[in-house]
Amino acid sequence: MTNPLFDSFSLGDLHLSNRIVMSPMTRDRAGPGDVPGALMVEYYRQRASAGLIVTEGVQPSAAGKGYWRTPGIWSEAQIEGWAKVADAVHAEGGRIVIQIMHCGRVVVPANRGYDADIIAPSALPCPDLVPGPDGVPAPTAMPRALDAAELPALAEEFAQAARNARAAGIDGVELHAASGYLINQFMNPASNHRDDAFGGSPENLVRFPLMVLKAMADAIGGGRVGLRISPGNPYNSMDVTDPAATFGPLLRGADPLNLAYIHVADMALKDLDTLAFIRANCRAPIIANNMLNAETGRALIDGGRADAISFGRAFIANPDLVERLKKGAPLAKPDYSLLYTGEEKGYVDYPALDATA
Ligand SMILES: Cc1cc2nc3c(=O)[nH]c(=O)nc-3n(C[C@H](O)[C@H](O)[C@H](O)COP(=O)(O)O)c2cc1C
Repeated sequence: MTNPLFDSFSLGDLHLSNRIVMSPMTRDRAGPGDVPGALMVEYYRQRASAGLIVTEGVQPSAAGKGYWRTPGIWSEAQIEGWAKVADAVHAEGGRIVIQIMHCGRVVVPANRGYDADIIAPSALPCPDLVPGPDGVPAPTAMPRALDAAELPALAEEFAQAARNARAAGIDGVELHAASGYLINQFMNPASNHRDDAFGGSPENLVRFPLMVLKAMADAIGGGRVGLRISPGNPYNSMDVTDPAATFGPLLRGADPLNLAYIHVADMALKDLDTLAFIRANCRAPIIANNMLNAETGRALIDGGRADAISFGRAFIANPDLVERLKKGAPLAKPDYSLLYTGEEKGYVDYPALDATA
């Protein structure tokens, strides 16, 4: 029996040559001005046999930047840089969406290289140390609480980022609503202490996330917009007591937008079957992620629990991951000390199988 992982499939308006997705991974290789340069073009070109590449988190504005050397999609130079990435991936027959990631309060100021407001739903700093320049852990700064009157313009920044991605020839965008960044900060009681229409009840907690998602879908069409979630993920000090309380309204609110997909980092929660929960609350196709392999991924597709499977770490040292999974070939191991160095080494120098043979 053939493995459905290697069959073509459509996620909304995204037509994939296989159901293997490269999961988003921040790698700190953008050039001056947070512009994707030749190094990033080569990295994504090498991995274009994935049915779909989801890029690293990309800031929609200067204020969205929290980490060192992360790319943006708001300046002309950045859009031109992404156009070169899109061309390279398309020339290899691949598809690519940009993950729109606004860090909100998760900002080490020294990572930015310029001044911009640090914004969040409430003036509550992220208590965790997060990677600073060169990946060295550093404290975050105190954010300013956003005024409700600012939120429509902030949602519009995400919509403009989506338009910019399309102008660059990128196939679509994924909204990062996982892992304790701005969208997740609005949804979570640990970071949202607001007493207006954007805080308190679960419906209020998802109001801004849905405003953003709708603005993005209106801008480029829901069939080119994905949503990334990780219910129950404590990363960046999120409260994980009752993830279904907010992710339920989020998914039900997203349902009418006819999104390309829901991309879930499944935390294997004891009290929640996350994949079944998503199916019950939203009709969009599901990309399942986290600690999967060719066999577990195949079982999820065969069982109707997921429509595509994403791999993160396996893509770091295996640019030809699809080919290796097809052949059952061994997977190379990444050098984790080189994840965030900003250098070529440990980024574009992992060979494909045929080059090592
Ligand atoms: C180096 C690295 C950077 C990551 N950066 C991001 C990111 O920018 N956005 C995101 O949503 N997830 C990010 N992740 C999480 C991965 O997308 C993925 O969910 C995780 O690695 C689990 O999948 P895996 O078991 O296949 O590696 C990152 C993971 C790694 C290892």
